[in-house]
Amino acid sequence: MLTSEAAAGAQKTVLITGVSRGLGKSLALELAKLGHTVIGCSRSQDKLSALQSELSSVSTSSISSDSSKNINKHLIMNVDVSSNSSVEELARSVVEKKAVPDIIVNNAGTINRNNRIWEVPTDEFDAVIDTNIKGTANMLRHFIPLMIEKKQGIIVNMSSGWGRSAAAQVAPYCASKWAVEGLTRAAAKELPPGMAIVALNPGVINTEMLQSCFGSSAALYQTPDSWAPKAATMILNLTSADNGKTCIAASPRENMHSCQRYAVTEGARVELAAGMGREQCFWLDGNRARWKSPFSRGGEILEKWMRVFKNWLNMDSDVELWTWTFF
Ligand SMILES: NC(=O)c1ccc[n+]([C@@H]2O[C@H](COP(=O)([O-])OP(=O)(O)OC[C@H]3O[C@@H](n4cnc5c(N)ncnc54)[C@H](OP(=O)(O)O)[C@@H]3O)[C@@H](O)[C@H]2O)c1
Repeated sequence: MLTSEAAAGAQKTVLITGVSRGLGKSLALELAKLGHTVIGCSRSQDKLSALQSELSSVSTSSISSDSSKNINKHLIMNVDVSSNSSVEELARSVVEKKAVPDIIVNNAGTINRNNRIWEVPTDEFDAVIDTNIKGTANMLRHFIPLMIEKKQGIIVNMSSGWGRSAAAQVAPYCASKWAVEGLTRAAAKELPPGMAIVALNPGVINTEMLQSCFGSSAALYQTPDSWAPKAATMILNLTSADNGKTCIAASPRENMHSCQRYAVTEGARVELAAGMGREQCFWLDGNRARWKSPFSRGGEILEKWMRVFKNWLNMDSDVELWTWTFF
C-alpha cells in the first residue's frame, strides 16, 4: 500500500535522468522538498544551473533541519544518457562522492515529431531509440553493479501508456517504450534479492513532450508540478517485492481528459463526462455522452465499450479510438 509517511520518511538518494524540464525537474524538486538527496542529469547546461540553485533553496527550507548540510547536497551533472561514456562518467562521480543512489528513475526520454513511420527522418528515429532504449541500458550497465555491491536498490524505468498499447504517428516512440517494458521485465529476472526494477507509466502530463504529440490539447492535462507529489509517494514506497511490476502513477480520472481531446479534435458533438462508479455503463444524454467504467476490470471490457461508443457517435470504424490506450 502507498503511504505518504514513506515519502517523508528516511532520507534517500535518488538519481533522476532528464531533470532539465518536465516530469524529471518537478520530481527532483518534490523529492528535495521532502528532504531527499537528488542526483540529476540532462544536457541543457543553463537549465541545469538554474535547477541546482532551485534545489539548494528548496533544501534550505525543507523538512530536514540542518540547512548548512543541505545546501550543496544535490549533485547535478551534464550527461547525455545516449552516450555510454557520459553515463560512465556520471557513475564515476557518484562513486567518488560516495553517493550511490537508493533509487534510480530512468526518466530521460524523447519522442519523434508526429509522422507516419515511413516519413520519420532517420536521425529522429535514431534519437528516440538511442535515448529511450540505449540510454536506459547505459544506466543499467553502470549502476546495477554499484547497487549490487550495496545489496539494495530500486530502479524505475519510465515507460508510457504507449509502452503497453499503440498509436499512429508515434511508432518510434511506441517501439522504444515497448522495448523499455521488455528490458525491465527481463532485467527483473536477473537482479539479486533486495533489489527491484519496475516500468512506470506516469500517466498523461502537460510537458513539452506532450505538446509535441498533442498540440494545444496538451493544456487539458495535469501539470508536472501537480503530478510530482503522487509520483514521489509511489516511487518512494517501492520495495524489492515490486520487482518486475508494471506500475502507473495516475488515476484513471486524470487520464480521462484524453477522451475529451478526442471528442474535440474529431469535431464530435459530444462532451465526455468521466464516472468512477462500480458498474460499467455508457449512455447518451442528449448530445452528451456519459461513461462509467471500473478500469480495474481490464482492457478487453473497456475495448468492447469503446466500440459501442464509436458506433453511437457514428465515428468512422477504422478511426482508432487511441485515447483509451492510456488507461
Ligand atoms: N508527459 C507525459 O505525458 C508522458 C507520458 C508517458 C511517458 N512519459 C515519459 O516520461 C519521461 C519524461 O517525459 P517529459 O514529458 O517530462 O518530457 P520532456 O518535457 O520532453 O523532458 C525530457 C527530459 O529528458 C531530457 N533528455 C532528453 N534526451 C536526453 C539525453 N540524451 N540525455 C539526458 N537527458 C535527456 C531532457 O533534457 P535535455 O534536452 O536538456 O537533455 C528533459 O529534461 C519520458 O521518458 C517520457 O517518455 C511522459
